[in-house]
Amino acid sequence: MSNSDRVVLALGGAGTVGSGIVKALLDKGFKVAVISRDSSRLERLQSFVSPGTKDNLTTMVGNVGSEEGAEQAKQDLLKAVGKVTDIVSSLGFSWWQGGPPHTQSLKDLHWVMETLLFSTFVSWKAFFPLVRDDPGSTYSFITGGAGEKLLMPGTGFLTVGAASTLAFCQVLRDEYPELPCKLNQVKINAGVAPPERSAPGYLSSLDLGEAVASLVERRSTSHSVFTVSCPADSKAVILERSL
Ligand SMILES: NC(=O)c1ccc[n+]([C@@H]2O[C@H](COP(=O)([O-])OP(=O)(O)OC[C@H]3O[C@@H](n4cnc5c(N)ncnc54)[C@H](OP(=O)(O)O)[C@@H]3O)[C@@H](O)[C@H]2O)c1
Repeated sequence: MSNSDRVVLALGGAGTVGSGIVKALLDKGFKVAVISRDSSRLERLQSFVSPGTKDNLTTMVGNVGSEEGAEQAKQDLLKAVGKVTDIVSSLGFSWWQGGPPHTQSLKDLHWVMETLLFSTFVSWKAFFPLVRDDPGSTYSFITGGAGEKLLMPGTGFLTVGAASTLAFCQVLRDEYPELPCKLNQVKINAGVAPPERSAPGYLSSLDLGEAVASLVERRSTSHSVFTVSCPADSKAVILERSL
C-alpha cells in the first residue's frame, strides 16, 4: 500500500509536537486526519502545512479525551475519511511548572493526569480497534523523558503525568506482546519548539515530525522505544539506526 492510500489519524495533531508530525506526514504523501477541541488551532494547522498538501488534510472539531467525545469523533472521522490505517498519539501539554507538590491541589493533579494519561488511554481505547488487527497498520505514542526525573524545581506534576504515560506504553507492550499492528513509542528527552520559537537545546518540531513520519512509513518494527534527545537522534530514526 503506498503512502497515498494510507490515512493517519494524528491525535493531538493540532499541538506543537503533533503539527510537526502532521506536516511531515503530508509531505510524504499520507492522508492525515486531525481532531481538536479548538477550531482556531485547526485553522492554524491548515496554514502551517505545506500549501500543496492541504487537500490531504482533514480536520474536525471534537474531544478525543472523553469517552463519549472519542466515540462521536470516531463516527465523524470514519464518515469523513472512510478508514484509518495508522495512528500517532501526541496528547498532553508542552510544559507545566505549577510549583512543588505542597503548593498544589488535588484538582491540579487531576488536570495533569487528565491531560497526559486519561486522554491517551481513552483515545487509545476508542481508536486502537480500527488498526489493531492489520499488520500494515501502526500506532505510535509520543512520550516525554520528563517522566523519568524532575526536570527542574516546580515541575513535579509534569513528572508524575509523563511517568504515567511511560508506564501506560510499557503496559501495552507487555499486555499485548503479539499484535498484528506495529505499536511503537518515541520518547523525547528535550524541549520541542516550532521553527519560529527555536532555541538552543530545543528540538525542531519539523525534524522530529520527519523522524516520526519515517517510522510510520517504514512500519518495520514493533514494541520498540525510540529515544530522541538531540537532532542526531531524529536523524538516526529517519535513517533506521536503532537507538
Ligand atoms: N513540547 C515539548 O517540549 C515536549 C517535549 C517532550 C515530550 N513532549 C510530548 O509531546 C506531547 C505533546 O506536547 P505538545 O507540546 O504538542 O503539547 P500541546 O501543544 O499542548 O498539544 C497537546 C495536544 O493534546 C491535546 N489534549 C490535551 N489534553 C487533552 C484532553 N484532555 N482531551 C483531548 N485532547 C487533549 C490537545 O488537544 P486540543 O487540540 O483539542 O487542545 C493538543 O492538540 C506531550 O504530552 C509529551 O508527551 C513534548
